[in-house]
Amino acid sequence: MSSETGSIYSRKNPFPAKHSLNRRLSGAASEKDTRHHEISLEGSGLAYEVGDSLGVFASNDPLLVQEIISMLGATGEETVSGNEGSPKSLREVLWKDYVITTPSKEFLAAIIAKAGDAAEDIAALTADLSRKKELEHYLWGREVIDFLLTHPKLQWTPEEFVKCLRKLQPRLYSIASSQKAVGEAVHLTIATVRYETFGRKRNGVASTFFADRTGGGVRVPVFVHTAKHFRLPEDPATPVIMVGPGTGVAPFRAFLQERKALGGGGKNWLFFGEQRRDSDYLYQSELETLRQEGILSHLDLAFSRDQPEKFYVQHKMREASAEIFAWLQAGAHFFVCGDGARMAKDVDTELHAIVTRESGCSPEQAAEYVETLKKAKRYKKDVY
Ligand SMILES: Cc1cc2nc3c(=O)[nH]c(=O)nc-3n(C[C@H](O)[C@H](O)[C@H](O)COP(=O)(O)OP(=O)(O)OC[C@H]3O[C@@H](n4cnc5c(N)ncnc54)[C@H](O)[C@@H]3O)c2cc1C
Ligand SMILES: NC(=O)c1ccc[n+]([C@@H]2O[C@H](COP(=O)([O-])OP(=O)(O)OC[C@H]3O[C@@H](n4cnc5c(N)ncnc54)[C@H](OP(=O)(O)O)[C@@H]3O)[C@@H](O)[C@H]2O)c1
Repeated sequence: MSSETGSIYSRKNPFPAKHSLNRRLSGAASEKDTRHHEISLEGSGLAYEVGDSLGVFASNDPLLVQEIISMLGATGEETVSGNEGSPKSLREVLWKDYVITTPSKEFLAAIIAKAGDAAEDIAALTADLSRKKELEHYLWGREVIDFLLTHPKLQWTPEEFVKCLRKLQPRLYSIASSQKAVGEAVHLTIATVRYETFGRKRNGVASTFFADRTGGGVRVPVFVHTAKHFRLPEDPATPVIMVGPGTGVAPFRAFLQERKALGGGGKNWLFFGEQRRDSDYLYQSELETLRQEGILSHLDLAFSRDQPEKFYVQHKMREASAEIFAWLQAGAHFFVCGDGARMAKDVDTELHAIVTRESGCSPEQAAEYVETLKKAKRYKKDVY
């Protein structure tokens, strides 16, 4: 029994949870496909706190599984080793146990060994450590199936093939609900990863599993991933500022449900951004209701593609510079969730700029101020 989740279920022993709702949040005209999912935790004893994530063991696309089986000249019924070493059918392990999209080093080594001169391009790149960047560039957007299609005559035994594959890892999703509002359930906000490379449509494993294959109350193995670094302030009267563009809004939906249920009176300020107001304003009616109810004291929106110049959450923060600084001086906690590659860095830069501008201090002193916020656990990030 885990003391954190109060349940026998964990990453090592995930709970087969019933998926109950898959609702598209993105409008018909959106370039994205972001969805709201609901999963039942009934019977699991699993408990979570707002700020936690849900770990999910998704399965691979059965059509891709079948294509690989055909390329191997197999039937799928052959017995091979599963990722825990137990014997299973080839189809079962390709579906649930192994990574069948991104090629592993072992798979590339097997291609080189089997294909000889026909794979000399990839052999040259893998042999020379100084060409690591070129190798990464070469592999970007290339999947296991591409190598099988390029070298269709190679002979593989099913066991030899699966031995080259890495274990399929669970994906994490920020929990978008509070148990004070939804009870034995968990809500998620998932952006579907779809793209095209080398003339082929590609699908992110877990996000397209959720988008395309969660009908009929399918069971999904899940566990709670606790995030002690991403907690609401203990005192519900403390003000919070939340910056969550895109799916980054997910934990803040949970925070708002929690703060509404607690009724502690603390002010809540959300910065949300997406591409277009008409098609990408995730949870629009919920957020506007929270605004009307006064739970959200401030709701600032940045729709990046509704005008010729890009307009992002950090630009909205700049417009509210003085008030953000006043909130920080009054003890507010500052949260950021979503894209870690660019957004979180730019928001951090703007936060430093706000402190410099509003306090009249030097950039070095602003850095110290922000560092103090971090040390006091008042500046918290959950980025990916
Ligand atoms: C703590 C945490 C919380 C998270 N919360 C959320 C959340 O609330 N909502 C959410 O949607 N996600 C969230 N994520 C991200 C999520 O875990 C997955 O990483 C995401 O859904 C993609 O997983 P996937 O299995 O669908 O894609 P994968 O099968 O893992 O494929 C993604 C990979 O595809 C490749 N790729 C992507 N685009 C391209 C392209 N254009 N060209 C070539 N290759 C490309 C990249 O290598 C990328 O890493 C979170 C991550 C963490 C760590
Ligand atoms: N590992 C993975 O496979 C995976 C899968 C899915 C998502 N992710 C990550 O999760 C992030 C979230 O994806 P999402 O679909 O929820 O939303 P997103 O891509 O972060 O987009 C949300 C909004 O943020 C804007 N934005 C882009 N760059 C920004 C910046 N530097 N500063 C502030 N805002 C910026 C976007 O504008 P524009 O688009 O108009 O520029 C859009 O309006 C992705 O960016 C990605 O890093 C990773």
